[in-house]
Amino acid sequence: MTQDELKKTVGWTALKYIQPGTIVGVGTGSTTAHFIDALVTVKQKIKGAVSSSEASSAKLKNLGIPLFDLNDVDSVDIYVDGADEINGNLQMIKGGGAALTREKIIAAVARKFICIADVSKQVDVLGCFPLPVEVIPMARAWVERELIRLGGLPEYRQDVVTDNFNIILDVHNLKILDAIALEEQINNIPGVVTVGLFARRSADIALIGSEQGVKDIFVWC
Ligand code: A5P
Repeated sequence: MTQDELKKTVGWTALKYIQPGTIVGVGTGSTTAHFIDALVTVKQKIKGAVSSSEASSAKLKNLGIPLFDLNDVDSVDIYVDGADEINGNLQMIKGGGAALTREKIIAAVARKFICIADVSKQVDVLGCFPLPVEVIPMARAWVERELIRLGGLPEYRQDVVTDNFNIILDVHNLKILDAIALEEQINNIPGVVTVGLFARRSADIALIGSEQGVKDIFVWC
């Protein structure tokens, strides 16, 4: 199976967690795109979706899935999204698609977070994938210096402007042993909008797709 076929399988498997009459939080990325294709098949049964990016909103609208503004809903029953890395505590690095801030907001609101990923995203220690950080443009050089102080090697993501009109720094050279502490440290740097570490709010369930099928994982470490 190709990586995309594995992503498609997990995207469609996530449908089993969708309950009738609910608002579904929708993430961003290629795995989530498959989930959206699956969601269309139950669009008459759900209330609708809240979306974590302009790209996902456009796809949801094109497919006729009712889209809600997060401010207009009292709660989000479930959030389904991919990851760039996920560890045994279901903590994740996210933001490869630059949508980390809105993803983190919906993940915080959602009652249940289902991470959908192919097996290549499963790691023992987070940090091999460069950690995305969304930054206010005027703070770029300062935040870079602070990230270096924390042991990282930040790299400006060329030609990318987030949906919130900010920039992304991708931080290399991190071996993240205490993800909650690092998430707090980076979030506390003035000028940082969001760090793509999802540790305080980790996933509740990970659906991991491999050649052997899809496993529902709660915690594997
Ligand atoms: C988007 O900003 C990310 O958080 C994605 O969820 C993550 O990059 C996974 O993307 P794929 O599903 O495309 O691998």
